[in-house]
Amino acid sequence: MDGNGRWARKQGKARHKGHREGVKAVRATVEVAAERGIGYLTLFAFSSENWRRPEEEVSSLMSLFVEALRREVAELHRNNVRLRFVGALEQLNDGLRKKIAESERMTAGNTGLNLNIAVAYGGRWDIVKAVRSLASKSAAGELHSSDIDEEVFASELQLAGIPDPDLLIRTGGEQRISNFLLWGLAYAELWFTDVLWPEFDKAEFDKALADYVSKQRRYGHTGDQVEATKC
Ligand code: IPE
Ligand code: MG
Repeated sequence: MDGNGRWARKQGKARHKGHREGVKAVRATVEVAAERGIGYLTLFAFSSENWRRPEEEVSSLMSLFVEALRREVAELHRNNVRLRFVGALEQLNDGLRKKIAESERMTAGNTGLNLNIAVAYGGRWDIVKAVRSLASKSAAGELHSSDIDEEVFASELQLAGIPDPDLLIRTGGEQRISNFLLWGLAYAELWFTDVLWPEFDKAEFDKALADYVSKQRRYGHTGDQVEATKC
């Protein structure tokens, strides 16, 4: 979700107003995802590198997260959405951690859209954490190095048990991954748009989905092989 700051500047407003407007786009996006029957939506709300921003912006973002949870979770719950947070959550303040734990607990039994929110998340951090866990299991004699395959490795990642993303959407015009789900994105289709996050809406989401369905996903096979398995 990129472009909140630029949106605010365009309007002659302070950056935090852009983040606030961005929450509205989150609401709309979650609605579309639920309507379209998407199983999993993972939003990159705050990266491990975003701590480098001015303290004032970081703290206004943290307050906004708490406020948004306070306002939105009941409605998400009514809509059968299951919320999960991933990232170095221990780095967050107590108030936010409490809201996160509450909202996860409240929605844990829901069976509709799985909404994952990445906060204080970095793809490299996720990978290193997984390696560390495997190394300590190995040192404890619970695991042999030859037992480690892609499946075992993925089971240590933050989004373990969740299918790899099919589609990555990045708003705000930059064409890079910026340390998002580095492992899981291996075969994702990528959609970049110049639209700034606060202006991302149903129509734009549908454009990305239409592009996605037009793609032939080959996973190393030839196009003919893929066609043959379709019939
Ligand atoms: C939102 O957009 C991303 C967050 C970290 C919340 P930005 O804040 O990166 O917006 P730009 O890139 O400055 O426009
Ligand atoms: Mg940005």
